[in-house]
Amino acid sequence: MSKAKTGLGLIGTGNIGRMHLVAITALRDAGLVDVDIHALCDIDEESLKSAAELFEAAKTYEDYNDLINDDNVDIVYVCTPTSKHTDIVKSAARAKKDVFCEKPLAHSCPQAREMFAVTKDAGVRAGVGLVLRYDPFLLYAKHLIETRDFGYPVLAHIRVDQHFPIEHGYYTQWRGNHSIAGGGTLIEHSIHDIDILQWFFGDIESVYAKVGFFSEREVEDQASLILTHKDGAVSTLDSIWHSLDRPNERRIEFFFEKGYIGVTLEADERWLEFQTIEEVRVRVHRDNANNALLDTLGVRAKNIAPEAYDALATVGTERFSAISYAFIKAIQSDRDPSPGFLDAIAAHRIVDAAYESSNKTRTVEIL
Ligand SMILES: NC(=O)c1ccc[n+]([C@@H]2O[C@H](COP(=O)([O-])OP(=O)(O)OC[C@H]3O[C@@H](n4cnc5c(N)ncnc54)[C@H](O)[C@@H]3O)[C@@H](O)[C@H]2O)c1
Repeated sequence: MSKAKTGLGLIGTGNIGRMHLVAITALRDAGLVDVDIHALCDIDEESLKSAAELFEAAKTYEDYNDLINDDNVDIVYVCTPTSKHTDIVKSAARAKKDVFCEKPLAHSCPQAREMFAVTKDAGVRAGVGLVLRYDPFLLYAKHLIETRDFGYPVLAHIRVDQHFPIEHGYYTQWRGNHSIAGGGTLIEHSIHDIDILQWFFGDIESVYAKVGFFSEREVEDQASLILTHKDGAVSTLDSIWHSLDRPNERRIEFFFEKGYIGVTLEADERWLEFQTIEEVRVRVHRDNANNALLDTLGVRAKNIAPEAYDALATVGTERFSAISYAFIKAIQSDRDPSPGFLDAIAAHRIVDAAYESSNKTRTVEIL
């Protein structure tokens, strides 16, 4: 059965909750989704009040169970710090609400699996905030691989640096607390990168990792992984949280039998470069990448109104608007959203294995 107007409730009106609210408001105002931002919840009274005013939510709650049990809430966005995700998702699912949960789903893969099982038993749909899947340049890279002969994958490398999100950018103390965040740069930030590596190169079958605590905080600030994929390709990942005053940067490189794709993200300037045996190096900029995003969403680039284009493709919010557009459309047409909890579980398995590998100083096979 197809739902028309969807009532949305969002729990956690901090950084990322507001990012989703900005994106969903823009989608709604541009006529791209039929959704009512009905209720918000936060334990921080001031944050709740200001968000409710800003996003014109009819209801506010300080207890998430009250939001979940509001009859006008059909889907629940879970945007609290990570340690709360498990309980909130399970409660929402048991109340038969579809859920969108921020990454990481939980502190461990077994917890993430439990969350998935509860959503399955309840018959609700569940999406996850692995937003790099809606990055325009990565979608362009997917498009290249699908339309050109790159041959088999050989080697991928991701290196990602971010200023400690405890004191910069997000300014969130909980990210330095292991019992809330579950870990540092590996689980909190680079779960995105592991998802991307498996999305492009397929399942990983073994992990060798070293994580470091150079800043002497409770959570790791460095993680280096060597990952072997099932078909033999190798990926390496270097992830760091530092205290330098420089733009965050994510560099992703894929080498194939017959071609190369390199993507630079987060930095002041973003671009993609590719090269094949037949073609010289080509640099792709924003507009072409945005077309790949619109194609993926099934939105016709030629006929799109300017406000709808801005809602979907504005630099900085585009991944969030695109993932919510895809999520809400999937829920409204009774399809499973992508990425879903199974995608997150696949990434959590590798995160867990990387921590185990580093603790035991040996390679961990993924069974
Ligand atoms: N997808 C992404 O790219 C991305 C980026 C950043 C953060 N995140 C994830 O989003 C989540 C939130 O991160 P953030 O930076 O927004 O944190 P934040 O601290 O800015 O916001 C969290 C909010 O949740 C509220 N909260 C805490 N416990 C609560 C409870 N029991 N009930 C209701 N509200 C509660 C806090 O008061 C706060 O306002 C984390 O899991 C983080 O990993 C995802």
